[in-house]
Amino acid sequence: MLLTISLWLLVSILILWALLDPVSRVSRALYEIIIPIIMVKTVDLKNQFGEWAVVTGSTDGIGRAYAKELATRGINLVLISRNIDRLEKTREEIIEINSTIQVKIIAADFSKGRSVINEIEKQLKDIPVGILVNNVGKQYTYPMYVGEVPEDEMWDIINVNVGAATSMTRMVISGMQKRRMGAIVNVSSGSEMQPLPLMTIYAATKVYLKSFSDALRIEYKKFGITVQHLTPLFVNTKMNAFSSRLQVSSVFVPDATTYAKNAVATLGKIDTSAGYWAHGIQTFFTLIPPKWIRTRVGEMMNQTFRNDYLKQKNI
Ligand SMILES: NC(=O)c1ccc[n+]([C@@H]2O[C@H](COP(=O)([O-])OP(=O)(O)OC[C@H]3O[C@@H](n4cnc5c(N)ncnc54)[C@H](OP(=O)(O)O)[C@@H]3O)[C@@H](O)[C@H]2O)c1
Repeated sequence: MLLTISLWLLVSILILWALLDPVSRVSRALYEIIIPIIMVKTVDLKNQFGEWAVVTGSTDGIGRAYAKELATRGINLVLISRNIDRLEKTREEIIEINSTIQVKIIAADFSKGRSVINEIEKQLKDIPVGILVNNVGKQYTYPMYVGEVPEDEMWDIINVNVGAATSMTRMVISGMQKRRMGAIVNVSSGSEMQPLPLMTIYAATKVYLKSFSDALRIEYKKFGITVQHLTPLFVNTKMNAFSSRLQVSSVFVPDATTYAKNAVATLGKIDTSAGYWAHGIQTFFTLIPPKWIRTRVGEMMNQTFRNDYLKQKNI
């Protein structure tokens, strides 16, 4: 009798233990969908974090849309991207949205690493940065095997996705600490949820951002600093030009403006988020199966995108 009870107890504990991980994963995803819906009140970003925001990679896609959304909320902006003409054009577009704010531009190529970081630091010296949006990111030209990734492209991905966010954060966070306010927004990707074959290096850089954000948040919470980790799924931007399927906006592949409006609305409400309600729902369902199934599905999806690209290029 005692043996049977012990056996049942052991089996029940094992089942509970096996369910713990998927249940907590899926409940967390649900929590991330629900919180921004419940917290309807708009956060006064200027009051809560400060008057200036820096947005990296801000002349196109999510970064440009995010900067525009911050402009509507009266935040002064520093835009950083590579191309000066595109920076000036974006500045003009933003001033049209809100002519009362200041918009400063800095031309810098983050793939060049440390040399541009020193220059940016000089230019930001007198700016009390309240919000840093580490948005700049580089993806593969198309899904590839690791051995096929050109060496320059590989270093660009590492320098841009890992180096830029890390060094920009280090640059501004002491100022935030002194002022006892600030927000660091790290634009990661849903690809951090599991390994992603054929986008192996890109996804691994996004896992770095996840770990970086989670640890940074704990280090700096006591100084009044918010660290948000955003995990968008597909957004219709030029980053996904490798497949025509991803260049059509829909509810699950939003345009950058829709994504950014939703993402900005989550800032100050939740520390980790897909940033957009439909991506939150997709994340919830994605996280139900175990990691090995998600990894295999990711591989199949990327194989399809790879075929799309090779067909587009007649290769
Ligand atoms: N789109 C998606 O489906 C998706 C999904 C998940 C996560 N994300 C993440 O979201 C972020 C934004 O992606 P996106 O789709 O909006 O990208 P995007 O449309 O390709 O825009 C990238 C922006 O970064 C700038 N940029 C690119 N390389 C740069 C460099 N080396 N130095 C400085 N600026 C550079 C580009 O401007 P210039 O060319 O003028 O420099 C542009 O303004 C990335 O971190 C990405 O990983 C995107």
